[in-house]
Amino acid sequence: MQVGAALGRQLQRGDVVLLHGDLGAGKTTLAQGIAAALDVAGPVQSPTFTLAAEYDARLPDSTPVRLYHLDLYRLTDPAELESIGYEEYITPPDGVTVIEWPERAGHWLPETYLLITIAHDGAARRLSLSAVGVDAIVQERLQGIIAALRGESPHPPAPSPNSGRGGGRERGGVPAPG
Ligand SMILES: Nc1ncnc2c1ncn2[C@@H]1O[C@H](COP(=O)(O)OP(=O)(O)OP(=O)(O)O)[C@@H](O)[C@H]1O
Ligand SMILES: [Mg+2]
Repeated sequence: MQVGAALGRQLQRGDVVLLHGDLGAGKTTLAQGIAAALDVAGPVQSPTFTLAAEYDARLPDSTPVRLYHLDLYRLTDPAELESIGYEEYITPPDGVTVIEWPERAGHWLPETYLLITIAHDGAARRLSLSAVGVDAIVQERLQGIIAALRGESPHPPAPSPNSGRGGGRERGGVPAPG
C-alpha cells in the first residue's frame, strides 16, 4: 500500500502498471495504494463480474484523470479482451491503467509499461520493478520512478548484478512495507 502510494504520486497520464504475482501476493493492495495517491474516492476492489473498473482520479497537481483497474484473473481467452476495449486500456490517453494478472493477456501487452512482480513468502513480500518496452522516453521516466522508489525504501537493497545492463531494463527490489 505504501509502495503503491509512493508510485501513484509519480504516475502520469498514459502510464500502465502491470502487477504480477500469485494469489494473495498483494496486487490489489498495491493498486489500492496507487488509487489512494490518485485521490480516488471510495474503495477500489478487484472487479468481480467484469474485467475492468474505472474511477475518477486526480494527479498530485490536481489534473483530473481516470484510473483503470483491470483484473484478468478470470480471463480464459485473450480474444475476450477485444470486447472490453482492452486496446484503449493499454494506451490510456486520459489516465493510468493498473492490470492484475497481465499474463492472462498472453502477448497482448502495452507498448511500454512498469512491471511489478510481487514475491510472497509468508509475511514477507518483495517487489521487483522493471521498465519494459520500446518507447525510450517513457521507459527512461519509469526507470526514474523505480530509482525514486528505491530511494524511498528504508533499506535500499544492493543493485542486482544486472542493473544498468540488459537493453535498458532496470531491475531492483523494494521491500514492501505493510
Ligand atoms: N504489503 C502487505 N503487507 C501485509 N499484508 C498485505 C500486504 N499486501 C497485501 N496484504 C494482505 O494480503 C492479502 C491479499 O492481498 P491482495 O488481495 O492485495 O492480493 P492479490 O495479489 O490481489 O490477490 P489475488 O490474486 O487473489 O487478487 C490481503 O489480506 C491483504 O491485506
Ligand atoms: Mg487481487
